[in-house]
Amino acid sequence: MDALKERIKAEGKLLGEDILKVDSFINHQVDVELMEAIGRDIAEHFQGQGVTKIFTIESSGIAPAVFAARYMGVPLVILKKRSSKTLSQNLWQTEVISYTKDVSYELTLSKDYISDQDHILIVDDFLANGEAATGALRLIRKAHATVAGLAVLIEKVYQPGRAKLEEQGVAVYAQTRISHCGEHEIVFAE
Ligand code: G4P
Repeated sequence: MDALKERIKAEGKLLGEDILKVDSFINHQVDVELMEAIGRDIAEHFQGQGVTKIFTIESSGIAPAVFAARYMGVPLVILKKRSSKTLSQNLWQTEVISYTKDVSYELTLSKDYISDQDHILIVDDFLANGEAATGALRLIRKAHATVAGLAVLIEKVYQPGRAKLEEQGVAVYAQTRISHCGEHEIVFAE
């Protein structure tokens, strides 16, 4: 997606050789107009595939997922990284290990918001190791629902996320793909 790619070129910052900082328009300050265009593009890509719900993982996937859900006319469900007093019963849960952040958490979904009739599109900001998306997939499969695919804003091609998801039969749509980060440059895969 050209608008996203241009923005990454203009404002993306490299932290070491591996982490791309996009805090000025995705992860901290949010460019709402860009998120709307991103959501519309995701909706167009998965149009006609019978998607009944969009799932995202808190927190940075929420903004684009809101717009994708709006354009597809389906509900958005935000998978939680921790349960709370208001979310303590009737849950599907699975442990996710985040290699980038070196933490683990219980990805949590209320059984009220999924059924075996659902065909779900997962939306997230980054595809790196694919652990978060694989966790979402485990929850969807526990509930005997099906997966339409995974849409991500930025795929880091040099990490194993896409291979992990495709091995599990998930169609991956990446709006931008980064093949590697040099010392001072971000190189996009075509
Ligand atoms: P995964 O997201 O593919 O599962 O890989 P991994 O477990 O390594 O990533 C863990 C977290 O780190 C995720 O955020 C992911 O979006 C984020 N991340 C991975 N690579 C990058 C990067 O190059 N830049 C930035 N800014 N983030 C990256 P999260 O824990 O789900 O947090 P949140 O930001 O959604 O709250």
